[in-house]
Amino acid sequence: MIYSGSALNVTLLPSGIANLTFDLSDSSVNKFNEITLKELREAVEILKRTEAAGLIFSSAKPTFIVGADITEFTGMFAESEKKIEDWLVQGNRIFNDIEDLPYPTVSALNGMALGGGFEMALSTDFRVGAEASVVGFPEVKLGILPGFGGTVRLPRLIGADNANQWIGSGSHIKSKQALAEGAIDAIVAQESLVSACEDLIKQSIAEKIDYRRIREQKKSALTLSPIELNVAFETALALVSAQAGKNYPAPVTAVEVMRKAASSNREEALKFEHQGFVKLAKTEVAKNLIQMFLNDQFLNSKAKKHIKNASEVSKAGVLGAGIMGGGIAYQSALKGTPILMKDIAQEGLDLGMSEANKLLNKRRLKGKIGVEKVISVLGDIKPVLDYKGFDEVDIVIEAIVENVGIKKMVLSELENLLPSSSTIASNTSTISIDELSLALQRPENFCGMHFFNPVPVMPLVEVIRGAKSSEETIAKTVAYAKKMGKTPIVVNNCPGFLVNRILFPYFGAFSRLIHDGASFNQIDKAMEDFGWPMGPAYLLDVIGVDTAVHCQEVMAEGFPRMNLNFESAIDRLYQGKDFGQKSGKGFYRYEKDKRGKPKKLINDEMRGIIESVQEKSREFTDAEIVERMMIPMCIETALCIEDGIVSSPIEADMGLVLGLGFPAFRGGALRYLDNLGLSKFCEISDKYSELGELYKPGQSLLDKARANETYY
Ligand SMILES: NC(=O)c1ccc[n+]([C@@H]2O[C@H](COP(=O)([O-])OP(=O)(O)OC[C@H]3O[C@@H](n4cnc5c(N)ncnc54)[C@H](O)[C@@H]3O)[C@@H](O)[C@H]2O)c1
Repeated sequence: MIYSGSALNVTLLPSGIANLTFDLSDSSVNKFNEITLKELREAVEILKRTEAAGLIFSSAKPTFIVGADITEFTGMFAESEKKIEDWLVQGNRIFNDIEDLPYPTVSALNGMALGGGFEMALSTDFRVGAEASVVGFPEVKLGILPGFGGTVRLPRLIGADNANQWIGSGSHIKSKQALAEGAIDAIVAQESLVSACEDLIKQSIAEKIDYRRIREQKKSALTLSPIELNVAFETALALVSAQAGKNYPAPVTAVEVMRKAASSNREEALKFEHQGFVKLAKTEVAKNLIQMFLNDQFLNSKAKKHIKNASEVSKAGVLGAGIMGGGIAYQSALKGTPILMKDIAQEGLDLGMSEANKLLNKRRLKGKIGVEKVISVLGDIKPVLDYKGFDEVDIVIEAIVENVGIKKMVLSELENLLPSSSTIASNTSTISIDELSLALQRPENFCGMHFFNPVPVMPLVEVIRGAKSSEETIAKTVAYAKKMGKTPIVVNNCPGFLVNRILFPYFGAFSRLIHDGASFNQIDKAMEDFGWPMGPAYLLDVIGVDTAVHCQEVMAEGFPRMNLNFESAIDRLYQGKDFGQKSGKGFYRYEKDKRGKPKKLINDEMRGIIESVQEKSREFTDAEIVERMMIPMCIETALCIEDGIVSSPIEADMGLVLGLGFPAFRGGALRYLDNLGLSKFCEISDKYSELGELYKPGQSLLDKARANETYY
């Protein structure tokens, strides 16, 4: 044994080649946390003085190294720029020392080698992968860039074009592509990884392979001419900035760093990388995106706690084969839970099946699944017109028409046919879970399970706890949502549940802005610039104007402060039966493009509609629009915490990000409040107090502002 620590050890193989194995104790994966870096430093110091024939880096876990320990980022990035740079310099010293070892080195990439893990692998002379290996630099997704030499070594190894693409997109790269582009040198069977590495080292020693030349290439300037460099980086910058958009600075910064460093040697190039890294690490965007990652982990751990006590769902049922029921059946079967899909109309069932068929074949054409999977998934959706087989299901999702009387009748009829242990979950978007539970003899077995449209695409599922829902019911529903590949968030029952309750004050703000003279085109543009994937008018068209009008009525009844005491443009569209995308016309007009997707065009009739609801038009600045739109949304989110509808700021914010597309780089409504400062926010909302209750912060927000507290 040459070195033994809690994260790694080094032994000498019979061939005289040293083998450094990462095996972080008390962790399912290897990562570059503080202890691993410290031990790697110590081990490399010893290896510099060890007479070995070569060195292999391997892993005792199913993955190689997943990257840095992101949980350590928040603390570290709060340090001074100097401290962050020192951390980079020290880390890079280890990797440079690995690159400079006096014998050939190879990384045995048995699984994922991402971020810092891949950077370490790039500091060795060769990389051998397995079929399942995945490499890449996801850093830009966290708002930063590779900081341990990734921007230096990758372009020198695989060329500027490929490196710009890999680093700028943050993609995971499969071993086959990595081999084709030169980032790994061979793909072998898992069990032969170490012997293949030994073989490469032996060939290097026998001078059949020139490992020193590869080293030199990684440590020198790029070999492109100035013109070639210019073309490569100009193209990449245009592409990457168009993909990332102006709110995500990391991908462009990463490409710029590579450009600046292109004619430098390793030492100089690393300095450019440090500068870029430090600059990004200090941005609010990076902090928010890192928090997003931590939020994901938090949601996972919460779901795990629920699932611990959950009984398994091995057979499911869904009532209604419409837009939602069809999507639910598809998703359930795709993820391995066979499902009975019941409707009252054969056409409904046919439509549900043909949608599933279409979705599956799309996946097949993309190469994601084979014909066998298409057949087996379709076989797992059983369309029925009666309740045959429902006496064997573990859970039923109700997704029939949004009518309280019909839903109650159907729920009560269904309950009598189910085993007493079965769970019933309603996908209602507006009806109280407690109201529906009145129809049931076993209300404890009932809760809400609110999916978003389109079900296969939208990640969020709100699991709604009614006053009588048992913990077992919630646990089983959470487990089923997870099994379907969704992200469940448990919330308490109230009108609109979490997401719609927060969305409708935002729509209220939109209607009032138009009423007060703003142009809806400008509102859409301002909110899209703010970071929303679509502005509120476009969103209303997508959701459906009829659905929005109905939901608004329910919200205003539940929360009188959400009442709009004027006729809105939305009402006018509804009266004219212009329901948005589904009817071809709403705030915008829609025509199908060549691929059958609705294309957004100007609806000339809107001018008249807007004039009919506006007394006068007046100029608004974009900043004013953003304030007037965001204040009610933020206030309502805070109220959802105050009222105990959702149990943490993280869950509230993730509901908005995953359910509505709230811009992730802003971290959610409460995170946005924190960044703005709560007292500053209260000051701003005070400016708009004459606009009504939606602009008045709740007591807990006021108290928190006064006490100088934050939500996170
Ligand atoms: N569409 C959305 O964006 C969306 C989003 C979230 C939740 N929801 C909710 O999901 C539910 C379904 O909405 P949808 O958009 O899929 O509606 P839809 O009109 O597309 O489908 C409803 C289906 O239910 C069937 N049906 C009616 N009565 C039935 C019964 N007694 N038994 C079995 N099937 C019956 C109908 O034939 C129809 O196929 C509603 O409660 C809705 O509020 C909808």
